[in-house]
Amino acid sequence: MSVHFSTKHLGSFIKEDEFTAIWPQVETAHAQLEAKNGPGSDFLGWMYLPRDYDKEEFARIKAAAAKIRADSDVLVVAGIGGSYLGARAVVEAVKGMYHNDLENGLKIYFCGNSISPTYLNNILDVCRGKRFSINVISKSGTTTETSLAFRVLRKLLEEQVGAQEANQRIYATTDRSKGTLKELADKQGWQTFVVPDDVGGRYSVLTAVGLLPIAAAGISIDEVMQGAADSMVRFSKLGPDNDAYRYAAARNILYRKGKRVEIMECYEPDFTMMNEWYKQLFGESEGKDNKGIFPASCIFSTDLHSMGQFIQEGSRLMFETIVDVKKPAKDLFIEPLEGNFDGLNFLANQNMSIVNRKAMEGTILAHTDGGVPELMIEMDDLSAYNVGYLIYFYWRACACSGYLLSVNPFNQPGVESYKKNMFALLGKPGYENLTAELEAKLK
Ligand code: PA5
Repeated sequence: MSVHFSTKHLGSFIKEDEFTAIWPQVETAHAQLEAKNGPGSDFLGWMYLPRDYDKEEFARIKAAAAKIRADSDVLVVAGIGGSYLGARAVVEAVKGMYHNDLENGLKIYFCGNSISPTYLNNILDVCRGKRFSINVISKSGTTTETSLAFRVLRKLLEEQVGAQEANQRIYATTDRSKGTLKELADKQGWQTFVVPDDVGGRYSVLTAVGLLPIAAAGISIDEVMQGAADSMVRFSKLGPDNDAYRYAAARNILYRKGKRVEIMECYEPDFTMMNEWYKQLFGESEGKDNKGIFPASCIFSTDLHSMGQFIQEGSRLMFETIVDVKKPAKDLFIEPLEGNFDGLNFLANQNMSIVNRKAMEGTILAHTDGGVPELMIEMDDLSAYNVGYLIYFYWRACACSGYLLSVNPFNQPGVESYKKNMFALLGKPGYENLTAELEAKLK
């Protein structure tokens, strides 16, 4: 089975009758999703997207990716939040975090995801003198981080190849018909791709938002979508064996027992950005109305040497969800060392993945003894198919979990607060009244 939710290490933290008790609420959540009559139901375009996606656009995405791979050394993807995390997460999970260094051909870099001048300067240095293309991604078309990075990158591109050729190298993923970016793209003749109205940023990785960078990285988007489609068929059915719903139920049972933090963990560093994507998905979906499970993440065994102490013996406020990837992309056989000078021959004559697995098993037992509930998501490997499968699993689980928590899992009103203050402090027209008030507070 591609993705399997397991409670085998949960021990006595949740009893089966607690799943039985919460299940009617899961049924209600499922019914609301399917009937599209729950909170935020304007944003359910993701639910059957792996089946109903725009096939004509999908073909254009493949063609654009092939062109970029043929005519560019570098693709710079400018976007933030939902317009950034999913693409990078899939590329790094499937191809590895060092794909740019290990493979010949197109290099992919992400920017527009901070306001750091150092970061943007480094991206410019990467592009200078190279054949590069830009994929600017913004549903609203007005996000400051993305727009600023794009303005600077576009200038460099036009300086290097001229405005006409630059227009052939800029790909804009944005709203179908409105917004500053869409207007600019139409005026300049950039090829455009659509962020559907009914798909929120954190659910957009399987639209052009994620698919163009993923395809440009040389990953089969057919396989990603097939994985998601098979996952959709499985997790859209209500039943006690629906693992996505069982995971959502387990999270909420633990939350109601005072567990306020979920740590998503994986023993594969290539999963780091998938963790970041998960944090946005669940954080923006659930963290509102003074409620929600705080989504945190660790990569083990790396973080056992930093966060391990807290998890073992600190405040008992968390549960752990381990993503157990059964098969590494590349294994490594540990050879015996003559003389055993480093004392490590007890590890020899086996694959390193076995050592990694024993570290995981030992940690699970230790953390369970330390009073931390352990959930587990098992998956065969980080192939394109299985990563697509996992994405849909998380989507279904997150939507259900948000409804169990009685929040609208599809809005993000809190994200606007910092923007309002930032614009006022920067003197953006229209924010004058707030400027003086905020400046007084900063004195
Ligand atoms: O989930 C969200 O809505 C946000 O994280 C957005 O994706 C992010 O703010 C970027 O927005 P936009 O695509 O409009 O530039």
